[in-house]
Amino acid sequence: MIFVTGGAGYIGSHVVKLLGEKGCDIIVYDNLSRGHREMVTSGEFIVGDISDKDRLLKIFRDHDVDTVIHFAADSLVGESEEDPHRYYSNNVAGGISLLGAMLEAGVKKIVFSSSAAVYGEPERAPIEEDHPTVPTNVYGNTKLIFENILKKYSSTYGLGFVSLRYFNAAGADPEGAIGEDHSPETHLIPLILDVVLGRKKEIVIFGTDYDTPDGTCIRDYIHVNDLAEAHILALKHLENSPASAIYNLGNGKGFSVREVVGAVERVTGAKVSVVEGDRRKGDPARLVASSEKIMRELGWRPAYAGLDVIVKTAWRWHKRRFGGKW
Ligand code: UFG
Repeated sequence: MIFVTGGAGYIGSHVVKLLGEKGCDIIVYDNLSRGHREMVTSGEFIVGDISDKDRLLKIFRDHDVDTVIHFAADSLVGESEEDPHRYYSNNVAGGISLLGAMLEAGVKKIVFSSSAAVYGEPERAPIEEDHPTVPTNVYGNTKLIFENILKKYSSTYGLGFVSLRYFNAAGADPEGAIGEDHSPETHLIPLILDVVLGRKKEIVIFGTDYDTPDGTCIRDYIHVNDLAEAHILALKHLENSPASAIYNLGNGKGFSVREVVGAVERVTGAKVSVVEGDRRKGDPARLVASSEKIMRELGWRPAYAGLDVIVKTAWRWHKRRFGGKW
């Protein structure tokens, strides 16, 4: 039995859908602080918090859980700087409670949702996994702390883990059933789509004086289904090998904020109102992944690597969810 924390969230719900399609037995556990019940399309759903160790222990024992996929976390960079206690409590202390229950119940395998935010300001691009990890915000720090805990528990207790460092997750289920719905929304692609739908007047570009070809920040956007496939490969790896591992997940190609606006205009046929604003604190100029390691070791290949296809799936979903058709 696979136990998925945070399975009602954006990335978690896409992984849950894929696990369901593959016929896996799963339990989805989410406190619904940010997730949505209706995004959970497979498995048994339990509303609960990862800080509730006794509850977790009982579920692990009653349902013969052997593997955990751990998404449950707060993930807003800005908010993590304003309210660090929320982030250390949920992402670190909550994670330790989960690991405590796993150790007690003898659950030995975990796939962890990590982030490119562990790297901080990059020294080079593309970023490989051995790049220095110097997070520049509390969110990234919580992910790095938890990875370090996993490493120690792996060597001490024989825990097997795969940590996946996502770059910029984007897009939606190509079948249009589920997709991104954050509240508040802070991510670039859904915010531009809100302008197209008339839910927002304009998109503010955070900084146009970066040392990049068009002056705006460059990010490596990766389709959420390609991320989901990587979790399946991580599970297979943990079934076959005791070796723990950390992998980046991106497309190895960066797009500037202006290029993303251009892709949305191409895909939707709309003209997007743009305002050039100040830099957002803590934004690195360029974040591009090398995903060579997961390609080489686990055979991962992205199926939705182009920016337009990513935006297309996001647009289809966005119209349905927020365009009055839900
Ligand atoms: N941006 C704008 N205007 C907006 C929103 C975003 O110009 O209204 C820009 C940002 O400055 C950035 C790019 O668009 O350059 C992408 O911004 P997002 O907020 O969509 O994503 P981030 O790159 O800031 O963050 C994402 C995840 C984090 C994760 C990080 C790792 O949301 O959880 O990638 O790199 F930590």
